[in-house]
Amino acid sequence: MDLRINSFDDYKRVYEYSVAEPENFWAGVADTFTWKKKWDKVLEWNFVEPNVQWFKGAKLNITENCLDRHLEKDGDKTALIWEPNDVEEHYRKFTYKELHFKVCQFANVLKNNGAKKGDRICIYMPMVPELAIAVLACARIGAIHSVVFGGFSAQSIADRINDAECSLVITADGGFRGPKDIPLKSIIDDAIVQCKSVQKIIVLTRTRTPVSMIKGRDVWWEDEIRKVETQGNPLCEAEPMDSEDPLFILYTSGSTGKPKGVVHTCGGYMVYTGYTFRTVFNYEPGEVHFCTADIGWITGHSYIVYGPLSQGATSLMFEGVPTYPDAGRFWDIVDKFKVNILYTAPTAIRSLMSFGEEPLKGKDLSSLKKLGSVGEPINEEAWHWYDENIGKGKCPIVDTWWQTENSGIMISPIAGVTPTKPGYATLPLPGIQPCLVDEQGNELSGNDVSGNLCIKFPWPGVIRTTYGDHERCRTTYFATYPNMYFTGDGCLRDEDGYYRITGRVDDVINVSGHRIGTAEVENAINMHADVIESAVVGYPHDIKGQGIYAYVILGTSGHDHELTRKDILQTVARIIGAIAKPDKIQFVSGLPKTRSGKIMRRILRKIAEGETSRLGDTSTLLDPNVVEEIKNGAF
Ligand code: PRX
Repeated sequence: MDLRINSFDDYKRVYEYSVAEPENFWAGVADTFTWKKKWDKVLEWNFVEPNVQWFKGAKLNITENCLDRHLEKDGDKTALIWEPNDVEEHYRKFTYKELHFKVCQFANVLKNNGAKKGDRICIYMPMVPELAIAVLACARIGAIHSVVFGGFSAQSIADRINDAECSLVITADGGFRGPKDIPLKSIIDDAIVQCKSVQKIIVLTRTRTPVSMIKGRDVWWEDEIRKVETQGNPLCEAEPMDSEDPLFILYTSGSTGKPKGVVHTCGGYMVYTGYTFRTVFNYEPGEVHFCTADIGWITGHSYIVYGPLSQGATSLMFEGVPTYPDAGRFWDIVDKFKVNILYTAPTAIRSLMSFGEEPLKGKDLSSLKKLGSVGEPINEEAWHWYDENIGKGKCPIVDTWWQTENSGIMISPIAGVTPTKPGYATLPLPGIQPCLVDEQGNELSGNDVSGNLCIKFPWPGVIRTTYGDHERCRTTYFATYPNMYFTGDGCLRDEDGYYRITGRVDDVINVSGHRIGTAEVENAINMHADVIESAVVGYPHDIKGQGIYAYVILGTSGHDHELTRKDILQTVARIIGAIAKPDKIQFVSGLPKTRSGKIMRRILRKIAEGETSRLGDTSTLLDPNVVEEIKNGAF
């Protein structure tokens, strides 16, 4: 079976085959990768426990696929381009040979510092090439990386380190992000006082921020590299991994308070990210791919590091933010490196759109061939702006829907192949079997229906477990509807069978494409000494997609509300990180609760959305007056 997709008919043919013979389909895809030993069985699964195993019995190392296998033919090809935050600083480029060398070197540093297969390593770094190198070096020796986004607080890091019992932390003295310097090592120091498992901290020099180093525990990246250089052998054999050995843990928010560690495994993750990268973007050799995500999120893992590198692509990573030093920065980068594929988030598009066309003047964007969107629904206005002003009407836009738990893109157009429709993620990729179900779990057949989005059949990138708590994985994803993976998203399928994601149906909000659990934010707000209770909901936000709206009950009277508001914001930043700071805080004297004490979030959501005239039935409330008060005080 020819699995190449060059036309919409090809897509239909391959899709049908992938549903009729999923194991043969995925075996065919997996055959395009390098294995130390091939599998005994393609798939074994049930969604009850759940227990999903792909390419059972196979041995591999993902870094051999991302690095070694390209050396002979493409060793001198650029693997990674890095654009620094500061326009005055010079960019860096690494060929596949150079990246291979650097990864081996740092893998040896990890070994020298006691790291071995199966150990968990926390990475808290700025967006510098050494972050990609650290990630790959962990994979090289079979250690399980847990990358924590540089915007999370000391408390969040400590929770993640403790949950995974990490023995080693890799960080930097600091990081540059737009006009700000983030004191990463000092944040790690604050975190680590709560973490007994950490034996070693490796610190990269980036900002030259003064840091304190603890003898015997903290070592400098550069010193350790020098040691390796004197040791002779610069290479590091890639550890043979079982297909189902964990590759990494990545924490993500759910509807309960504590973030969960999503676990992905070596074989399935490699096959899924490599396949989706080359398929969705219709990747052609020589193209420069610029994914604007941070490696601290799944998009960066899959479409800056593993996906592009396993396909021998040139991947561009950018240290800074889209608006620094001005709102033309992305376009400068596209022009400077002749970027062919741009993969970004609707929130970035909306933010840049608000600056008008001025920042685009004089920027040559003619190298662009394909555009991508990810992380949240893209509104039609942003879609058209992206299409007209960036793609100049000639670049297909792929609106890619997927989640941390999926490894890679699930529902999306294939660039240049699938006819697109603004606001629609369109059709499932080969191998993906979505379905819509009603509240009772009945599958909705036919088109022109909406319901909760589920996936009926495993794909190689499906979440295997939540670290240290398999039951949580089962109850969160596999127990709501029997024998299906439940995404937590609402979705409609239109008359053409095209899918449109309508947003989360649980208590998760999507702020600038980042998932935040309302319970997490409430827990953080409630840590403030003056707060008795709080309720957090999402509301539509012009740039961020969704903003965070907090209703807060204070304990004693006579507060300076302005001061308390600032204090609460600081508390949330300290407990979770600045990304979780509420956009609006409304002080209230009570919350709408049912007689059994449950907060009626539906009402709070409506008020936050400004839809105060359509609150629905409030008769079951313990105290309906509270709603009037909240309505009157709303923003
Ligand atoms: O609600 C969906 C939304 O983002 C959620 C997944 O978030 P996360 O795990 O952080 O991964 C983000 C990057 C893959 C989903 O449940 N989402 C993601 N992509 C889209 C989207 N919503 C609409 N359209 C999309 N293209």
